[in-house]
Amino acid sequence: MTSYTPPGHHKTFAAFRDHLRAVGPSFDADEDVLGGPDGALAQPFEASGLAIGNRFAMHPMEGWDGTREGLPTAHTLRRWRRFGQSGAKLIWGGEAFAVQSDGRANPNQLYLNDDVDVLGGLRALLAEVREGHAEAGFDRDGLVVGLQLTHSGRWSRPDGPPVPRTVQRHPILDRRQGITDDAALLTDDELAALVPRYVRAAELAAAAGFDFVDVKACHGYLLHEVLAGRARGGAYGGSFENRTRLFVEIVEGIRAACPGLPIGCRVSLADIHPHRPNAETRIGEPDRDDPNARYELGFGADATDPTAFDLEEPLRFLGLCQGLGIELINQTLSSPYWCPHLQRPASYPPSDGYLPPEDPLRSVLRHLEVVRTAKHLLPDLRFVGTGYTYLQEWLPHLAQAEVRQGHVDSVGLGRMALIYPDLVRDVLAGRPLDRRRICRTFSDCTTAPRNGMLSGCFPLDPYYKAMPEAQRLRELKRMTRPRIS
Ligand SMILES: Cc1cc2nc3c(=O)[nH]c(=O)nc-3n(C[C@H](O)[C@H](O)[C@H](O)COP(=O)(O)O)c2cc1C
Ligand code: SF4
Repeated sequence: MTSYTPPGHHKTFAAFRDHLRAVGPSFDADEDVLGGPDGALAQPFEASGLAIGNRFAMHPMEGWDGTREGLPTAHTLRRWRRFGQSGAKLIWGGEAFAVQSDGRANPNQLYLNDDVDVLGGLRALLAEVREGHAEAGFDRDGLVVGLQLTHSGRWSRPDGPPVPRTVQRHPILDRRQGITDDAALLTDDELAALVPRYVRAAELAAAAGFDFVDVKACHGYLLHEVLAGRARGGAYGGSFENRTRLFVEIVEGIRAACPGLPIGCRVSLADIHPHRPNAETRIGEPDRDDPNARYELGFGADATDPTAFDLEEPLRFLGLCQGLGIELINQTLSSPYWCPHLQRPASYPPSDGYLPPEDPLRSVLRHLEVVRTAKHLLPDLRFVGTGYTYLQEWLPHLAQAEVRQGHVDSVGLGRMALIYPDLVRDVLAGRPLDRRRICRTFSDCTTAPRNGMLSGCFPLDPYYKAMPEAQRLRELKRMTRPRIS
């Protein structure tokens, strides 16, 4: 088996830089990260009329920990408070909020439940962010908080067991999900009926005081699958125009109902062929038996090369967003369900994953390359980049270099935000990082929900370490850890 040196194993900046340059010759990191108001990461910027106070964003991070009625619990509120405490001025979405009950990815997802006080729940979440921010010594200026709106589509599990609602037949994913007929396919009428649900959710977000909403189109969830729906007929499938129609209808519906509310989009800007573990080595490989088979069912995936991107349509989509007055884009890649190594580069795979088929640092750079391309072609859009957590100790060094050179506007933190949200505070203050709290990409926060548990940083966060789930997870990992003979 090939093993890859995690960035955190490099004891010196020079060693990390050598590794970085070997994997991505067009990349360089800054040796010195400048804290204080003059640092590149401390600079404010503007998007959709919103003044955003610095260059760090908290990515949306679900906890599978709401009530069955779709309201936040103490765990949810804690996570949002920590997002606020981090010092990041852009809180992108908080977490995925489903627009109706059948679009929940798990029974504990927050959602637009018409029978409960959703507005009260949203206000409570926002208050946690703002109070956390103030408690950590930051003023309200420049703090921008959005709510991420979603329907989980193919990955819906509203009551626990999978109840996929799909856009098109997909031989590989259908096989994995046990889908054998068209029963899971959403009709055009069902898709159209989602528009008022997105609009209602946006109205409540605006009423609660959120600064923007994110119409989520990533990670294999419904609106991402619609973008890839070449095999679908009717009004929402086939041509690029049809595949973007639902997104446009949702955006126009929100605009009409909430005229002043900025809209953002988190989008998987590129994809590759779904991967599976090799039966012997457990290393990820394209899930296909015919090496000449074309793959037409990805959005931003090259049809002939199973590991290459094709950015032609995603760039068109960004142009469309711009035309719709959307300026805030959160770039991500692929899906944690079919290419976890790309969506969230890690040293240790989740229980349903596989060993990395490439140096995870290369996977990180694939994120950074895509956002660089998009930013350079569409400089008026404001991009949040993804994939930084795996950089560990060297995250601030590459983040600063990318922002300083104008390759990306804001650096989004995902898993790092779960265990060490105040990394942001430390970087902005010019303090050294707390090495004990750096995410080592153990993937427990993905493995736990894949096995019906709530999510959190079980290995490192004392709050989760103390839960009975932590012990269950350790046992589970012993049984499922990929082994190399
Ligand atoms: C536990 C967990 C929950 C997540 N929840 C969401 C979510 O609600 N919405 C979303 O767009 N992405 C979600 N993601 C993806 C992250 O936002 C992010 O894209 C991913 O972790 C890669 O960034 P990182 O390398 O900084 O971790 C989640 C990831 C994890 C590990
Ligand atoms: S469980 Fe903790 S250390 Fe592991 S990937 Fe998630 S945040 Fe990182």
